[in-house]
Amino acid sequence: AIERTFSIIKPDATKRNLTGKIISKFEDAGLRVVASKRIHMTQAQAEGFYAVHKERPFYGDLCSYMVSGPVVVQVLEGEDAIAKNREVMGATNPADAAPGTIRAEFAESIEANSVHGSDAPETAAEEIKFFFTDDEIVG
Ligand code: CMP
Repeated sequence: AIERTFSIIKPDATKRNLTGKIISKFEDAGLRVVASKRIHMTQAQAEGFYAVHKERPFYGDLCSYMVSGPVVVQVLEGEDAIAKNREVMGATNPADAAPGTIRAEFAESIEANSVHGSDAPETAAEEIKFFFTDDEIVG
């Protein structure tokens, strides 16, 4: 089915000017960018977005990292977009990511792993709503 998923190009990638190369990977996989904006997340946005990880030992560092530079938040649309995006991203830890995936090619570490992508339909809907209004999404 045609789905929408939420994506973040993280500060390690924007700093190294990899935005276009990463978007090409999405597009080459058949995903369409139907919403996109470059923002500098506030501390409150980072903490709210990653609230599900609040109890994890990496939460504080993760939030600091996510506000350390600009990010590009996007909505990607396509056939099985959630799974497809996860495939294109590769495993969270770049050491485990399959060759050719974004994280295998670009990620610096398990934290500075270049991209975020929604893991399920419910989280995709929540994450899209966290950063976009309906009128900002143009399919
Ligand atoms: P992301 O897919 O955005 O979801 C949570 C993020 O926490 C993850 O990518 C990484 O950037 C970061 N992170 C840092 N350490 C870990 C860890 N040990 N396990 C999972 N995620 C981690």
